[in-house]
Amino acid sequence: ATKVVIDCDPGVDDALAVAFALGSPELEVLGITTVAGNVPVERATGNALRLREFLGAHRVPVVPGSPRALVRDGPERTGRAHGPSGLGAAVLPEPVLPAADGHAADFLAETVRSSPGEVILIAIGPLTNVALALRREPRITGWTRGVVVLGGSHAPVGPGSPAVPVPVPVSGGAGDGDGTAPGSAPPAGTAPEFNLAADPEAAAAVFGADWTVTAIGLDVSGRVRAGAAVRERMRALGRLGRELLLPGLEHYGGARGDDPDQGPPVHDACAVARVLDPGVVPAVPARVTVDTGGPETAGTTVTVHRPDGPAGALVATGVDTGRFWELALAAYGRLAAR
Ligand code: BDR
Ligand code: CA
Repeated sequence: ATKVVIDCDPGVDDALAVAFALGSPELEVLGITTVAGNVPVERATGNALRLREFLGAHRVPVVPGSPRALVRDGPERTGRAHGPSGLGAAVLPEPVLPAADGHAADFLAETVRSSPGEVILIAIGPLTNVALALRREPRITGWTRGVVVLGGSHAPVGPGSPAVPVPVPVSGGAGDGDGTAPGSAPPAGTAPEFNLAADPEAAAAVFGADWTVTAIGLDVSGRVRAGAAVRERMRALGRLGRELLLPGLEHYGGARGDDPDQGPPVHDACAVARVLDPGVVPAVPARVTVDTGGPETAGTTVTVHRPDGPAGALVATGVDTGRFWELALAAYGRLAAR
């Protein structure tokens, strides 16, 4: 199985991603690390602990990480899309087992160091912990098997790019993909996405480091929707559907104002799909620059596709939504049957 660590801020779509990974026998989840993002880090850790027990993964360590961004205030989550608990309307039992000792950044660095060439980092929250891990042990760039980030928006800019930008839904203030006004967004490439805007300096460090970051932007993840037909299939998943997936998604979609038939996006789960089967989320070489300027632009990405030149990143260009849901629903079905 492919070894992965999931760095997250649960989060309705983080919860879907964690369940997807834990229900996939092709992946060995070595740990879940938490970061301030959708909710404060204490809550993110609590949610990760709740998820771990609810999903029967008692042996997977949950390691708490950064309470705030590297240099700025925040992250301040202004949107209510994930609800005050972070898990929408899902109410999971209180966890019994504690979090692991230590800091997420040390855990990330140590886990990668002890299995060189084997571990893929799946980063689906602000990138603070990953940036701190790089600071503590810069050699992890050579030791990781990969790093997959849900963040930014990577429709190309520059010579040869399509003239028509892909609109990214954002809410008022710093865009976050959880907005209630799809279509009112600036063009892709200029709309700050939550995970990157929440800690732009960390994001810049992660994209600037000497490794290849696979980035899935909202221009791609926003196409994967938990529509009515998918949610109907989740109704057959017993407690997993009834107590976690559906109340999470229904709150999230409702708060975002999504058309119920189309349903809400499941951004973070796309990162897990990419690791399971790269063909589901194809990506091309690109140069990604993360802005660290003023409050309006910090965290925005400029992505130049580089089919032949030195790249530094792979950016997702599309997603096979049919295959995505086959994989995800199969994983959820395995968890439900346990
Ligand atoms: C990202 O922001 C969070 O709200 C989601 O969990 C996802 O990681 C999408 O912009
Ligand atoms: Ca997230």
